[in-house]
Amino acid sequence: MSKTRFPDGFLWGGALAANQCEGAWNVGGKGLSVADCSLYKAHVDPKDYKALHHISSADIAAAEACTEIGPYPKRRGIDFYHRYREDLDLLAQMGFKTLRVSIQWTRIFPKGIETEPNEAGLAFYESLFTEMRARGIEPLVTLHHYEMPLHLVNHYDGWYRREVVGFFLRFTETVFRRYRHLVKYWLSFNEIDSAFRHPFSTMGICEDRHPKEKLEEIIWQGLHHQLVASALATKQLHAIIPGAQMGCMVTSLLSYPETCRPENCLKAVRDNRDNLTISDVQVHGVYPPSALSAWRKRDIKIVMEQGDEEILKAYPVDFVSFSYYMSMVSSVNEAEREKVGGNVTSGVKNPYLPVSDWGWQIDPIGLTISLIELYDRYRKPLFVVENGLGARDKLVDGTVEDDYRIAYFRDHISAIGDALDEGVDVMGFTAWGCIDSVSLSTSQMSKRYGFIYVDCDDEGHGSMSRIPKKSFSWYRDVIASNGAGF
Ligand code: BG6
Repeated sequence: MSKTRFPDGFLWGGALAANQCEGAWNVGGKGLSVADCSLYKAHVDPKDYKALHHISSADIAAAEACTEIGPYPKRRGIDFYHRYREDLDLLAQMGFKTLRVSIQWTRIFPKGIETEPNEAGLAFYESLFTEMRARGIEPLVTLHHYEMPLHLVNHYDGWYRREVVGFFLRFTETVFRRYRHLVKYWLSFNEIDSAFRHPFSTMGICEDRHPKEKLEEIIWQGLHHQLVASALATKQLHAIIPGAQMGCMVTSLLSYPETCRPENCLKAVRDNRDNLTISDVQVHGVYPPSALSAWRKRDIKIVMEQGDEEILKAYPVDFVSFSYYMSMVSSVNEAEREKVGGNVTSGVKNPYLPVSDWGWQIDPIGLTISLIELYDRYRKPLFVVENGLGARDKLVDGTVEDDYRIAYFRDHISAIGDALDEGVDVMGFTAWGCIDSVSLSTSQMSKRYGFIYVDCDDEGHGSMSRIPKKSFSWYRDVIASNGAGF
């Protein structure tokens, strides 16, 4: 590790999503969201990501009828809603410069359609952001992190219906105005490209409510609405908070060709290009020719309103943020290959890479490659807003000896340093799930990512007390030395 190559002001910190940590699912006037329907799925094969994320109409009805936490652990979270001051104290002890959190739309507009916001929800986030600032922690706020109001799912088919753009913009305008003195960095849609992998949590589209053969077109239509909403939210942001910045947030799913066989290389080029189609629109302001040609070939017709194309062009994002957990492999013989699980996806096994307890491939060099490629493609500042290792931690004698997590972060932070050395502009790094929280895909507590252990098991038993792991002081030292000393 070479010394002092991280720039001054580099935003070191961690990331959480409101629906995975806050709990208090029915407190302060909050409405139900897609996350409140998300079932505990510890026993589903992590390679079967479709099954992990699938939610049927019957599942939604059962969730609405359930007035308790029941089989929905995200309703419990880690009680961040009541414990955030104590949690922020611990993050401040680590020297966090930033904390990525999200605002649950349903705390501000419980159904998504109201004309007046819910003051209790607004006051909660005002206090959260104020307390962050008091500890020198810059808020980085996601507006839409798998938290869509369930009312919009049931009455508007999620983002498929155009009216939702207007509802969302009422929400964004409300929070921009209320937090204009508190929040400078914003992200519009978490992993916006995930729509095809899990349309329910990403855009509130329940698959069994639509004809199978129309689903791709419906998802594209929803994506178009999200892209227009993201551009218009960027316009609002710049008008309401001068100097504030909006980032897109995409899933980095870098794919290597399985071999140098030209067919595999061509497949890798296409897979990588397709993974970046949505961020291409958010940065360049136009749909790439490959998307237009795919629509033509598959007879996909997107309804655009007059002025949509101009909106996309006029309000691109200010920076590009992404999650990075693993790399993938492109193979023309994919069907015959051994598979691995992954971050809201699954893919061909790479024999050169170790895997996590959940079978996710660990590839720090892939992070350097992703940074180089994204910077070459976009020439915008990059922000690594998710990266981390989900593991089965053991609490022994009041701590967790998570040397495996330290090794993981050492390698990945070093990989960012390598990209910085090549001139890539990186704004910051927020480690995913800096405090243990409920897993997105399986709703397990036992899939732990944090520097801070939370005493709560998959069934919700435990005191919820917070216990620093060995990695806590290690990361504190990384931040204190601005990435030089580890
Ligand atoms: C990202 C999501 O895809 O992966 C997070 O943005 C999520 O919300 C993270 O928690 C890790 O996934 P999981 O399923 O292990 O929680």
